[in-house]
Amino acid sequence: MAERTVGLEHGLTNYGDRDFSLYLRRSFARSMGYSRSMLAKPVVGIAYTSSGFNNCHRHFPELLDAVKRGVLAAGALPIEFPTISLGEVFLSPTSLKYRNLMSIDTEEMIRAQPMDAVVLMGGCDKTVPAQLMGAVSAGRPAIMLVAGPMMTGRHRGERLGACTDCRRFWARYRAGAVDDAEIAEVEGQLAVTAGTCAVMGTASTMACLAEALGMILPGTAAIPAVHADRLRAAEATGAAAVRMIGSDRTPERIISAKSMENALRVLLALGGSTNAVIHLTAIAGRAGVKVSLDRINELSDSTPVLVNLKPVGNGYMEDFAAAGGMGVLMRELAPLLHLDCMTVTGETLGERLAADDKSWIDRSIIAAREQPFEPQGGLVALFGNLAPGGAILKRSAADAKLFEHEGRAVVFSSLADLAARVDDPALEVAPNDILVLQNAGPNAPEAMPEAGYLPIPKKLAQSGVKDMIRVSDARMSGTAFGTIVLHVTPDSASGGPLGLVRNGDRVRLSIKARRIDLMVEDAEMNKRAAVARPAPPKPERGYARLYAQEILGADAGCDFAFLRPAPRR
Ligand code: FES
Repeated sequence: MAERTVGLEHGLTNYGDRDFSLYLRRSFARSMGYSRSMLAKPVVGIAYTSSGFNNCHRHFPELLDAVKRGVLAAGALPIEFPTISLGEVFLSPTSLKYRNLMSIDTEEMIRAQPMDAVVLMGGCDKTVPAQLMGAVSAGRPAIMLVAGPMMTGRHRGERLGACTDCRRFWARYRAGAVDDAEIAEVEGQLAVTAGTCAVMGTASTMACLAEALGMILPGTAAIPAVHADRLRAAEATGAAAVRMIGSDRTPERIISAKSMENALRVLLALGGSTNAVIHLTAIAGRAGVKVSLDRINELSDSTPVLVNLKPVGNGYMEDFAAAGGMGVLMRELAPLLHLDCMTVTGETLGERLAADDKSWIDRSIIAAREQPFEPQGGLVALFGNLAPGGAILKRSAADAKLFEHEGRAVVFSSLADLAARVDDPALEVAPNDILVLQNAGPNAPEAMPEAGYLPIPKKLAQSGVKDMIRVSDARMSGTAFGTIVLHVTPDSASGGPLGLVRNGDRVRLSIKARRIDLMVEDAEMNKRAAVARPAPPKPERGYARLYAQEILGADAGCDFAFLRPAPRR
């Protein structure tokens, strides 16, 4: 029987002489002080994403030590390698633009370097989906370790956490209820430790979904970043990676149509971030699995909201961890889940849940399935003539009084137009109007920023208006709330009907009918389409050009066309 390739023998640099390549590789590796016996061991690569531009990962040096400890104790050699890191608030125009770049980096570095298994260290918003997408495509045994959430800060007796409270205080500041001195105080209390945003935003949602998919160790999604348990989880992750060596537990096997459906169930029960729909679609797409918005609606109708965290509820991720975390949530959901799905440990999801022994559960944070916080899931997909390819609304974060509503469109043609006019006292706008933002989707130069949470025009905010229907092809931060229709597909910049809405048109939203419609005759729409502005010129070079050429719509997870697997013959 042929000997198995191990450790540094993988993927040798090609000098036309295999033995020479290995000898040379070992000799350079020994320059780093490794002994020959250490270099004969299997290798666990660690995709390391510490960056001075990523506050959420600032504890990664300590976590890395713990992962390495786990790998060494289990008998393999840990070797970390850097990849791009995406610090959400430090990237322009938006981190989503670079998610696919990070996934390419992750995939190629896993494939090109000699490793038997890989630990993916991620956390901040786009890093988890980027790493999962890359790992699925790379096809090596992989396990993820997430950063864990921040702890909350304190302000005048109140707990604060990024970033629902960031928005809440900013809205109050815009309305004149908070002054300059207080907003400066708040600024220092919103993000007070290492880790990802403290609420059920995109990062927390994706961490929980990584656990639902079976890609991280059980019970580790919600452990706070600075808790000693997080270090123990890191050590255990390193050891688990060693046990995956030589197994068939590769991400493209763990991520299947069934595990994806489990993840969607969990997303709905969490009242999680709308961004997760895009990311799950992209991750699934790499494994050749399609996520359908119609199926999301079916699942939403039969999945209760069981978690009470901001922005939908009251708690923070530290409360979720203390309440029992993902094990408790998935045990509640068990009758709705596919329990035969494989996980990174080699157990099925059913076996993993049977081993969960949390007997004390904080029911103020995780409800029993029979007594949910909401009887139906947090997200709904909408269709209609304004969004033939679909759109998403976070029902659990919206005002139910606006669920069946027709109003006059107040249109902003771009992000620049929005910034220039939304607070203009002369803006003609009333509380019953519907704010429409165009050209903020994946094909726009701004690459689908989290601008779907359009601010309430200042003059309305100051008169006490807290929510209005807002419609766009943009995304929304997972930490935001409001009656907000997002991801309208096809987007304006690719010729979608959203780009044809004009000021004063009537728009109708019906959550019951799952529709968002423009009440304009087809003949008029065709006339407008005939004189529509030409698409902006494509960038001439660099990543921006690749992005413009390859970006797919929200219905394909905004992946790049050339990164999806070739259709099976
Ligand atoms: Fe990193 Fe929110 S800024 S998760």
